[in-house]
Amino acid sequence: MRAVSFKRKILCIGAGYVGGPTMAVIAAKCPDYAVTVVDISAERIAKWNSDRLPIYEPGLDEIVRAVRGQNLFFSTDIEGAIKENDIIFVSVNTPTKTFGAGAGMAADLQYWEKTARQIRSCAESDKIIVEKSTLPVRTAQAMERILTATNSGIHFDVLSNPEFLAEGTAVSDLESPDRVLIGARETERGQAACRELVDIYAHWVPRDQILTSNIWSSELSKLVSNAFLAQKISSINAISALCEKTEADVTEVARAVGKDSRIGSKFLSASVGFGGSCFKKDILNLVYLCRYYGIEEVADYWQGVVSINEYQKRRFVMRMLNSMFNTLAGKKICLFGFAFKADTGDTRESAALFVAQELLAEHAKIVITDPQALENARIDLQDDDGVIDYVDDPYAAAAGADAIAVMTEWSLYRELDYERIYRAMSRPAFLFDGRNILDHKRLHEIGFNVYPIGKVALTHV
Ligand code: NAD
Ligand code: UGA
Repeated sequence: MRAVSFKRKILCIGAGYVGGPTMAVIAAKCPDYAVTVVDISAERIAKWNSDRLPIYEPGLDEIVRAVRGQNLFFSTDIEGAIKENDIIFVSVNTPTKTFGAGAGMAADLQYWEKTARQIRSCAESDKIIVEKSTLPVRTAQAMERILTATNSGIHFDVLSNPEFLAEGTAVSDLESPDRVLIGARETERGQAACRELVDIYAHWVPRDQILTSNIWSSELSKLVSNAFLAQKISSINAISALCEKTEADVTEVARAVGKDSRIGSKFLSASVGFGGSCFKKDILNLVYLCRYYGIEEVADYWQGVVSINEYQKRRFVMRMLNSMFNTLAGKKICLFGFAFKADTGDTRESAALFVAQELLAEHAKIVITDPQALENARIDLQDDDGVIDYVDDPYAAAAGADAIAVMTEWSLYRELDYERIYRAMSRPAFLFDGRNILDHKRLHEIGFNVYPIGKVALTHV
């Protein structure tokens, strides 16, 4: 299967949201490289080899279909693949630790360390190991110590190459990245390994967008990038609370503020709160690192970004409760969207999960609709099996509801016939727009009591 004519063989351990799309794009852009992706989950690998990929990402199916079996291979033979490949990306999950020291804050590095040990025990020749997962700064040092602990004579060069793709736009982010970052040791070998990786990306990324740095800067830059992005969202969300008190409009404020090119207009959309598998985990990791190094003030500063996000989610539910006459018991509430953002089926840390659980605690009846995330929503809420309805069609989902809460900014929710929806709902009908994507004035004219984020509510009662 593996043609000898390939210039290099690349392996990625971890076939998740990062490993799968990243390697598919590398394979598509580098036909002279053989790319193999392995995972401990046989189910995931089977899906990567099937017509229904394990993740939904616009444009990904086409790419995988074009290169799979040519120079992109998905396999469960981790040990064989380690032996065979020269460059090994590690893209396993690094969730927040749930036990022991640092529980709820630090990164859980068990999957990462297991992989390092497995590489060490299977390798028969020198390897370049590429950190693709997001890791605490100085993890490369730990990796090097594990890899060299047996004095096998095999040389390992560890590089840091964090991934900046966002879900829903993974393919375009990978095809046209703002930058690629590669951190390497400042030794001759380290720099040679760095050049190998630069050569891969240079197949399609302009050289001046491939940044190289020392390895610790690279590891830290990933955590800091996510912290800065999340900080922008928490800043505008914090201001949305003030807007609701003062009749200022958060969209107008964001537009005025964002026009300043030093601030920039992106990531200033007020929302029910940011979600996703990484922002919270990476900031908590940063906070933990700061506390570890005794810089409490810095830790407190970044902790504030997460605290505002929790506040924003709680505030959203409290607004629903207060506006619906302080009781939600027995009321039917329809969640429009469950994914943590549009164009993905991923529900990890979705604000919708928090909102659903709080509404259930108030004894509301919940109906969830989402074009891609219902399967994951069912898994997330399996403890509440039987009391939640999952409905594909948004019109059917909203029929008979007392309220709709927009949780995800799917464009399809902008295009629905809200007169039809209103006619089928209970009275008074409420609409809470957790993404500020709908035409609030129009909805109010139809008869809804409309509660946007960071704007005056438009009510009839
Ligand atoms: P994921 O959970 O989707 O995928 C990780 C995969 O690794 C899983 O399929 C799991 O089975 C596999 N795995 C775990 N241990 C393994 C082992 N010992 N051997 C082989 N496979 C193993 O996670 P993800 O979202 O792809 O994230 C991976 C890393 O990339 C994380 O560190 C994350 O912070 C970072 N990251 C994620 C995103 C994103 O958008 N999801 C973006 C940038 C960076
Ligand atoms: C984020 C970063 O954008 C990526 O660069 C990074 O690689 C990735 O995390 C990671 O390390 O995992 P992602 O979480 O996939 O990507 O999606 P984002 O577009 O950043 O959105 C995150 C959350 O913030 C979503 O819930 C989104 O709805 C919310 N958001 C985003 C807002 O509430 N307002 C905004 O203005 C922008």
